[in-house]
Amino acid sequence: MKPTTIALISSAIVATFGIGYLVYFDQKRRTDPNFKKQLKRERKKASKAAKVSQEKELVTVEALVKNVLEIINKENFPETPEAKEAYFMEQVSMGETLCGQGEAYYEQSVEPFYKALRVYPAPLELIMLYQKTLPEKVFRIVVNIMALEQQKRQAEFYNHFPPPELGVKFQELPVESDKPVRGLTATKDFAVEDVLYTETPFIAALHPQLETTHCNYCMRVLDEENKVECSNCDQVEFCSTQCEQAGSQNYHVFMCTNNKLEPSTVATEFSNYTKATNLKYPQMIAQFLSIMVADEAKKNQDSVMVADEAKKNKDSEKASTYTAWDHIERFNAGKELVPTEESAHEIKLIKALLASKVPGIDEFLSDDIYLLLKSKLNKNSYEVPTNEDILIEKSNEPTRVLYTEKQGLGSAIYKISSYIVPSELEEANVSISYDKTNVITVTAIKDIQSGQQIKAFYQ
Ligand SMILES: *[C@@H]1O[C@H](CO)[C@@H](O)[C@H](O)[C@H]1NC(C)=O
Ligand SMILES: *[C@@H]1O[C@H](CO)[C@@H](O)[C@H](O)[C@H]1NC(C)=O
Ligand SMILES: [Zn+2]
Ligand SMILES: [Zn+2]
Repeated sequence: MKPTTIALISSAIVATFGIGYLVYFDQKRRTDPNFKKQLKRERKKASKAAKVSQEKELVTVEALVKNVLEIINKENFPETPEAKEAYFMEQVSMGETLCGQGEAYYEQSVEPFYKALRVYPAPLELIMLYQKTLPEKVFRIVVNIMALEQQKRQAEFYNHFPPPELGVKFQELPVESDKPVRGLTATKDFAVEDVLYTETPFIAALHPQLETTHCNYCMRVLDEENKVECSNCDQVEFCSTQCEQAGSQNYHVFMCTNNKLEPSTVATEFSNYTKATNLKYPQMIAQFLSIMVADEAKKNQDSVMVADEAKKNKDSEKASTYTAWDHIERFNAGKELVPTEESAHEIKLIKALLASKVPGIDEFLSDDIYLLLKSKLNKNSYEVPTNEDILIEKSNEPTRVLYTEKQGLGSAIYKISSYIVPSELEEANVSISYDKTNVITVTAIKDIQSGQQIKAFYQ
């Protein structure tokens, strides 16, 4: 990769993080009673002063925003990085020319500036630049359009995920708490013994004490003849070259101790810590942060491929535009956690581990974000069961246990199956089963009608 590509990718990640971060805090603020009061007071003050002039502006701006959104909807944006760059330059220079002609042309400049923003790989970075360089009015309208589009994209999430052809969807459950809880509901009939779907984990962490006896990626027991060691460290091994490639690309490259080359003390410290405590969620959090970076790099690759391959299926394309953060953010919330010495130590270790590879990690991984990730992972992960007789020290981290009589190989969280709510044994209508790896098969154990909730037995 060229250094400039890397720079663009990294700032795009900061941007994605940034948006998730803003959304998260925005939500928090909205539910905080003190903040609400304060907000009300501020609003009153502001509204008195600004009412008249704003109302006037709003009418004209509303029409403009609507118009730009319509144009954007119809626009065929370029796909390849080269074409995007050319398009970007063209739009920015058009916007600048218009602005240069005086205030009467400001509104017209919104469209090209917004189009440029749409193709730029690091939108938040560009927004910051816009804030410094564009006339205030133009800037405010551009930000408004961006927020509207983001809202729309987020609102569409549940139409695209899970992919409708699976016959299941996420549905809000009636609960008496301020946080919505979603479960999984059938959208078609399934007969007993039908396989609803199989699913690979979104994030998974092998029990740290089982490294080098089990595949770091799929958790299969290693076969001495065919196993593949990481080429840079002797800490993890994989069952096949496929798993080695997938594991390395998705996360291990970010977490490798490199002890065969130039050992990294921070990576060793992290790995020593998880081994000693036998905890899986610190690994899962580090993995999640790595996946976000890898995701972004892949998206840039994909955009080149899509252009070559002609147009892919529109729906699956849309489902894949949601980031790892979009998924994590939607998982049902767990217990609210408070910072402890332990969490402070874990944050320090993860920051050190990822500092050179995930730009912005230092600002991003605050106590709040870390505890939010930890609580969601603990709430939504399954313990991957095994029939083998293995001896591992139990850690007391909470996880869903499907088979209490079996040992666990590690923890895994699934984009769809983590929404399956627990039930009593006789109420369950699906079983979640594993066949030697962390890949899940969800099978109907009763007839399920469209509209019925999908429940499994676990503790
Ligand atoms: C990690 O653990 C190994 C073995 O216990 C020890 O030799 C090494 O010094 C530790 N490294 C760090 C950085 O903590
Ligand atoms: C499937 O489980 C749900 C929730 O427990 C239940 O309401 C439904 O009746 C079950 N379906 C069958 C066919 O038992
Ligand atoms: Zn494997
Ligand atoms: Zn390695």
